[in-house]
Amino acid sequence: MIKCFKERDFICLNDFSCEELYFYLHIAQHIKYQTKLGLFSSVLRNKNLAMIFQKPSLRTRTSFQIGMNQLGGSALYISPNEIQLGKRESTKDVACVLSGYVDGIMARVFSHEDILDLAEHANVPVINGLSDLLHPCQALADYLTILEHFGRIQGLTLCYVGDGNNVCHSLMYGASKFGVNMKVACPKGYEPDKKVQKEAGANGLSLTITNDPIEGVCGADIVYTDTWTSMGQEKEHDKRLRTFIDFQLSSELLAHAKDDHIVMHCLPAHRGEEITDEVIDGPHSVVYEEAENRLHAQKAILALNL
Ligand code: CP
Ligand code: NVA
Repeated sequence: MIKCFKERDFICLNDFSCEELYFYLHIAQHIKYQTKLGLFSSVLRNKNLAMIFQKPSLRTRTSFQIGMNQLGGSALYISPNEIQLGKRESTKDVACVLSGYVDGIMARVFSHEDILDLAEHANVPVINGLSDLLHPCQALADYLTILEHFGRIQGLTLCYVGDGNNVCHSLMYGASKFGVNMKVACPKGYEPDKKVQKEAGANGLSLTITNDPIEGVCGADIVYTDTWTSMGQEKEHDKRLRTFIDFQLSSELLAHAKDDHIVMHCLPAHRGEEITDEVIDGPHSVVYEEAENRLHAQKAILALNL
């Protein structure tokens, strides 16, 4: 099993089988307990990860940096201005040059095409640290959080409320692999990407899309939201605030979910917009566990793929 991950890119959860995704989760849990006990493996000794960022980050940057350090390796942060992917030089040249220096590339980009371009030309594994289309590291950590909380994943109902965006897409691919019933409650025109719907549907995803947040949340084990305005959409902020106003996670809305539901948010949260203080700070919220699990899930990816 371990061999089949070596030198593989981590771009989309759809590139992995259900068995492989569970394997990541089991390794992540193992690494998490080891870390808690103060036991640190040096499996990535002398290995280096380049981290390309076209957008800001707290969780992704810190957890990859710390994850590499804890596994005995190092990470190098490359800022948007420094590299200017595709402007100062071609993405192909960046991929080929970095492949001569490092053992893996993690990139956060605007266009998903840039991740695909990096992966095509690099001869080291490329990890998608968020693109306009997908956020697979987030979703892997989220399914780890769900597994820890419920002791299982299959058969649960996850309702994503808000914009059918990159985070929603990765959750959908994951749901299609793990056998999660997925509901998406979003305003008209903000539904998830059709291609993602089709591909996740081909894996057998049970998907309900509704424009009614109450219908969406009804019977949900997990209620998930994300910002209404993703990075790169700042000019649309005011319009989106008006469009999404009925899709805020409030105590009133969550009264329709199962009594023992959990509330998830990938963060950063815009308190008072997509989620109220009362909900994010309330007893159902697992947002900080989710954020911590980015570290453990990504260490599994780094340990297996690099
Ligand atoms: N959730 C997440 O990816 O956070 P950052 O944008 O801070 O990395
Ligand atoms: N959808 C958000 C996720 C941030 C982690 C964005 O792309 O900005």
